[in-house]
Amino acid sequence: MSTNPDAPDGLRADPPMPSPDAVAFVVFGVTGDLATRKLMPALWALHTQGSLHPDTRLVGYARSEGDDQALRVRMRDALERYVGPVDEDAWRDFGARIHAVRGGYDDPEGHRALGARLGQLGLPRRLFYTATPPSTYAGIADAMAEAGLNRAPEGGWARLVIEKPFGWDEDSARELNARLRASFDEAQIYRIDHYLAKETAQNLAVLRFANTLFEPVWSNRFVDHVQITMAEPMGVEGRGAFYDEAGVVRDVFQNHLLQLLALVAMEPPARWEADAVRDEKVKVLRAMACPHADRAVFGQYVASGAMPGYQDEDGVAPDSTQATYAAVQFDVHTWRWSGVPFYVRSGKRLADKASEIVLHFKTPPHVPFELGGPLAADRLVLRVTPNEGIRLHFNAKLPGQGIRLGRVSLDFAYERRFERPSPDAYETLLLDAMLGDATLFMRSDEVEAQWRVVTPLLECADGGAAPQPYPAGGRGPDAADRLLAREGRRWHPPGDPADGTGG
Ligand code: BG6
Repeated sequence: MSTNPDAPDGLRADPPMPSPDAVAFVVFGVTGDLATRKLMPALWALHTQGSLHPDTRLVGYARSEGDDQALRVRMRDALERYVGPVDEDAWRDFGARIHAVRGGYDDPEGHRALGARLGQLGLPRRLFYTATPPSTYAGIADAMAEAGLNRAPEGGWARLVIEKPFGWDEDSARELNARLRASFDEAQIYRIDHYLAKETAQNLAVLRFANTLFEPVWSNRFVDHVQITMAEPMGVEGRGAFYDEAGVVRDVFQNHLLQLLALVAMEPPARWEADAVRDEKVKVLRAMACPHADRAVFGQYVASGAMPGYQDEDGVAPDSTQATYAAVQFDVHTWRWSGVPFYVRSGKRLADKASEIVLHFKTPPHVPFELGGPLAADRLVLRVTPNEGIRLHFNAKLPGQGIRLGRVSLDFAYERRFERPSPDAYETLLLDAMLGDATLFMRSDEVEAQWRVVTPLLECADGGAAPQPYPAGGRGPDAADRLLAREGRRWHPPGDPADGTGG
């Protein structure tokens, strides 16, 4: 067994990391934004770290590009743009393994040409990835089936990775599942939610299930409420038309935020493997009540200083009532969580970049010290991005005569503790899909359960109720503060200041 230099106290030995076989990685929509901005850099990182089998091939499928050499130039440009200068030796090896096939997404002829090319390459293990608009997913799956690409060649496998958004509402998600399942087995379908591959999202399970300290207090006996925040300074960044249709609920609540909530609330699975983990998350989602309209606040950013308002963004209707912000109270009706509200908020063009989960504990039943004011509660903050890590805020004695209390914290930051940087979520997900590990991908019933939970929010948001305006670059609508204030609670400040200020 190898020892891991990062292992605490040198006590733990690492199991060897599995490495994938030679794979044909087929990207539909290879010239598009997702492929060039996320998939290429992730593949390149895996290549330069030596994580890919040397015979792995990238086969780009697009309507506009069918020439190997031209695609190689494009992909190299993308790397230089999104990653930086490219090492010549590494590129020589990588670039030579990029191939192009031209075809329409739902055109069986194009898919047959793709099949012929894959046959020539002689790789029976095939990973297909839909880096294309969501409206194309079902057509791609049908055309693949017509060309026989849904079935694995002898000795291999065929897997299909589907990007988010998966469906537009509960009905369309069910329909899409049914269309995919007409040609693929569930075990072949990998539905992506890149938040699941963030280090802190995965570490949440380790924190809870590989320690004895946290799990005993992880319930309504000790937790007062939970907050989940995803705050973003950026606006809609060239995706105005898509965003104006989707809004914040479809964009991040239905997927990333509900996934984080499910990871916080799930029961311990017997084993950390795909079906056991997903069974537990589905139980949480099914135990969630649909939020009430009076427990949801919607907002839309308006121009402030040099920053444009949402309605001024390209592709957005000038009278749009789409929500770019929402704060919602969810309840999980289980023995463990009954009575503990989960407050979840997210918005575009906010002051901070912060995705984090905060557990607010109850205050002790009796405090034997003289206090100048109310006792601050302990808080456990899990920073998902940026600056991944965990901080525990608690009360301590201030130095000096007598007992006076102050706030202190214990902090673990990935960046300070480990030399190697955390991999990008797409690196983790691509490698997992090549290895056939679906733990970080969503199952059909999970996606449908997520849509069920957000349906009333979509009805409010799509119903055209005017969202509350908030200044771009600010903290979001004041009504989000009132949502908590009426229960005597306050939002933890995004970015988690080390002194634990803000409530
Ligand atoms: C995407 C959303 O899924 O996640 C974007 O569509 C959002 O609107 C993005 O900005 C955030 O991801 P990350 O990894 O930058 O936190």
